[in-house]
Amino acid sequence: MTAMSDIAGLVADARSAIEAADTTEAIRHVAATVSGKKSPLSEASRALGSMDPESKKELGRQLHEARTTVEELLESKRTEIRFTELSAEMAASRLDLTEYVPGSVAGPDQRGHLHLVSQTRDALEDVFIGMGFDVAEGPEIETDWFNFGALNIPPAHPARGMWDTFYLDLGEPETTLLRTHTSPVQIHLMERAVLEGTLPIHSVMPGRCYRRDTPDARHLAVFHQIEGLVVDRGITFADLAGTIETFTSAYFGPDIHSRLRPAYFPFTEPSAEFEVTCAICKGEGCRTCSQTGWIELGGCGMVDPAVFASVGIDSDEWTGFAFGFGIDRCAQMRHQIADMRALIENDIRFLRQF
Ligand code: DAH
Repeated sequence: MTAMSDIAGLVADARSAIEAADTTEAIRHVAATVSGKKSPLSEASRALGSMDPESKKELGRQLHEARTTVEELLESKRTEIRFTELSAEMAASRLDLTEYVPGSVAGPDQRGHLHLVSQTRDALEDVFIGMGFDVAEGPEIETDWFNFGALNIPPAHPARGMWDTFYLDLGEPETTLLRTHTSPVQIHLMERAVLEGTLPIHSVMPGRCYRRDTPDARHLAVFHQIEGLVVDRGITFADLAGTIETFTSAYFGPDIHSRLRPAYFPFTEPSAEFEVTCAICKGEGCRTCSQTGWIELGGCGMVDPAVFASVGIDSDEWTGFAFGFGIDRCAQMRHQIADMRALIENDIRFLRQF
């Protein structure tokens, strides 16, 4: 066996045998036949031994090429078969864990969804992210220092009376409590930024808060706030007012505006309460807004230098503003929910509306 056409014939035969194989078993068998020890290719190689050097060289080269081609064809076929078999196996072993019980709450047309408070939190985050803020979080269990002390509310300060606190007895030397507002997250962010040298700060901090309030139409003992903090060079009250107004129209709609009224908070100076146009009467005056056309949403102000001092920020170089307001209150206003307690009663007929 010497002719090139014979070798070409062997390759052609091998090619059609390989193409016809469609299982792992079949390709293994074909591989043995077309390239194994007893294959015509191997026999041809063995026959080289008895040839004269010239023809041996030429034929040897051709046989080597033929073998390479056959091995490549085999390998690509093996890959193809492996893929097909694996896909079939995966399709066959797929477990469908859904079960629809006719008449049950969780039918395909009644899937669960995020709670209104979570949806509101997401929407508020989106608005602030769009304005260049990032989103941060802090712990719900705090020490007295983070919740009060660092925020310029010393132990005997009458402002502590503004928050009815759930104190915890964790056997720690320090007083621990459930945070009464998200303002302590400001302290965590500022401490970290000082430590890591990452000032300025432009962050919002949403989260759960706790107060010993008896729940009523406008208050819950477990509720949600979103805090804002900007610390940078040259920040003014105008930046604060502009931020509040931009957020108000972006979240509640173009007809809703904001206004600031002087107020007192120990951690800001000057401080203000911010109000937004009553969404129910669009500012005309109604029962909900006590005929004023405005609804109070939260507090804000310029970060008090005493707060900067407690975290080691130089208030000659840096200024900042902060704000905080209720997420549940936003949901209540935007969707005109008469009684806030509906948010925690888990009545599926209420929740399904959002
Ligand atoms: N922490 C305040 C509260 O819960 C709200 C607040 C007021 C937050 C003024 C602020 C602020 O950041 O500057 O009543």
